[in-house]
Amino acid sequence: MMAVSLGKNLIWQTSSNRLPEEKRLRTFGRTKSRTLSDRQQGLVDDLLPRIAIPSTGPVRPAGLIPGKAAHVLEIGFGGGEHLTGQAARHADAGYLGVEPFINGVAKALTQVDEASLENVRLFEGDARDVMERMPDACLDRIFLLFPDPWPKLRHAKRRFVQDETASTFARLLKPGGTLRVATDVKAYADHALWILRRAPGLKWQAARASDWRGAPADHLTTRYETKNLGDCAPVFFDFLRV
Ligand SMILES: C[S@@+](CC[C@H](N)C(=O)[O-])C[C@H]1O[C@@H](n2cnc3c(N)ncnc32)[C@H](O)[C@@H]1O
Repeated sequence: MMAVSLGKNLIWQTSSNRLPEEKRLRTFGRTKSRTLSDRQQGLVDDLLPRIAIPSTGPVRPAGLIPGKAAHVLEIGFGGGEHLTGQAARHADAGYLGVEPFINGVAKALTQVDEASLENVRLFEGDARDVMERMPDACLDRIFLLFPDPWPKLRHAKRRFVQDETASTFARLLKPGGTLRVATDVKAYADHALWILRRAPGLKWQAARASDWRGAPADHLTTRYETKNLGDCAPVFFDFLRV
């Protein structure tokens, strides 16, 4: 048995959280901070429309980024360091990133531009709006790295990991595909494990504590991770679509 405690937030987690879309709670904070630089605004105006995931209609990763051996979704990419770093390392894969914070989108666009990445598509908005428009079994990997923690129990319904999103992860992943969730907030770690371990179609890959306590070999450190804002060391939960 893993040394992962399940806290008192279990009380909330037993209730149903399947909400109709119009009642969906917001999972993110601000969507804009400082004014974009002229260069960033230029990239938002010129580059983003060329590499944007459409805001309506079906989202087919293989159609958006054709000719790739694999397709990867990163939810809440922040400044895009992990997304663009992975995309630069794996030119044979297509990367879809979703982030509602425009300053983060602008940073990611700068990296896409500077590295001339052809295999990245971006969406400024809520990842749930994109995921619900994706067909079954269209992704090889999903990353949810250091999601907004909403550490207080009364905010737990705002956490991105819920029963509904867990079943969407399972729906979108191909058999053998993987989901990685990382956090440095203990309440979120407990919450995510509680939800994801009971999700049909997802199997936690950890066999020993060292499998989730240390960063996986293919992990690229994120900007948020370096800030050490959480209350525990980062943990990494890898789930397999079975
Ligand atoms: C704590 S930050 C971490 C950012 C990045 N993953 C990192 O590790 O540096 C969480 C990010 O998730 C984004 N986010 C929250 N809810 C989201 C949602 N429903 N869809 C997409 N992104 C979301 C936030 O805007 C924020 O940028």
